[in-house]
Amino acid sequence: MDREMQGKVAIITGAGRGIGKAIAERFASEGTAVLVADIDREVADAVASQIVSQGGNAIAQVADVRNRVDIVSMFDKAEAVLGPIDILVNNAGIGGSASIEEQDIDAWDNMFAVNVRGVFLGVQEATRRMRVRGSGAIINIASAAGKIGRSYMTSYCATKHAVIGITRAAAHELAKDGVRVNAICPGIVDTRLWKEDLNPHLTELEGHEDQTAWDLRVAAIPIGRHQVPGDVANAAFLLVSQEASYITGVSLSVDGGMVMH
Ligand SMILES: NC(=O)c1ccc[n+]([C@@H]2O[C@H](COP(=O)([O-])OP(=O)(O)OC[C@H]3O[C@@H](n4cnc5c(N)ncnc54)[C@H](O)[C@@H]3O)[C@@H](O)[C@H]2O)c1
Repeated sequence: MDREMQGKVAIITGAGRGIGKAIAERFASEGTAVLVADIDREVADAVASQIVSQGGNAIAQVADVRNRVDIVSMFDKAEAVLGPIDILVNNAGIGGSASIEEQDIDAWDNMFAVNVRGVFLGVQEATRRMRVRGSGAIINIASAAGKIGRSYMTSYCATKHAVIGITRAAAHELAKDGVRVNAICPGIVDTRLWKEDLNPHLTELEGHEDQTAWDLRVAAIPIGRHQVPGDVANAAFLLVSQEASYITGVSLSVDGGMVMH
């Protein structure tokens, strides 16, 4: 357990599975109290219960990050039950692939609502509570797709570029108030978002066989393996720690060397 993380309070959105779950579990194992937020009550409850059964401090809250009322309630609940919020991880996000011609514009708007509006609402509410205290750490989960362009991923790339923009502007505005804002840019993580929501249609558009496409993607990663959610949780731990106290506004690539900037 990390002494510095003990007694802290963190909110993690989209923490019912995948990367958010790994971050919640990691922070809890280091002694931080976590609010596990997710649009899906069942998965949020399951993660919080599992953390508690392992001796950690966690509560679950249903929150759709597109909805400002849900965001405010999530902060109110965390503050009332766990205490003032030290850390926010804006992790909730959705993926999808389409050619430019076939992109459905309602799906485009919804992706922006979750991936961009949701991140901004989280940053806004955290700012209201952290700025007055003069401390806090915010992490936004962007993507390698926030730094490069990829065929058939226009909407996803656009939202993740926007997350990096929000991160930089907020970091600049909040630096003098002791609130650090950073982004993490994962690569190819073995979660439902990648394997079920992105990969199948992308693979079809690229004209590959399913397993071949996955194998080709993994073969192109310099470190030579796909990513696991724990790789992102390690980076999140690093960025909220005291060791990172002079780091703000960065978009840290955690992708096995796929994007080296
Ligand atoms: N998997 C990857 O390869 C990868 C790569 C780069 C970035 N990311 C980013 O990491 C983050 C987490 O992705 P993941 O791979 O763990 O996905 P996932 O689909 O496994 O998990 C996402 C979680 O977010 C929740 N969620 C979805 N919409 C929500 C909403 N409106 N409000 C609240 N919660 C909501 C889901 O219920 C789910 O529990 C996302 O922002 C994603 O874009 C993932």
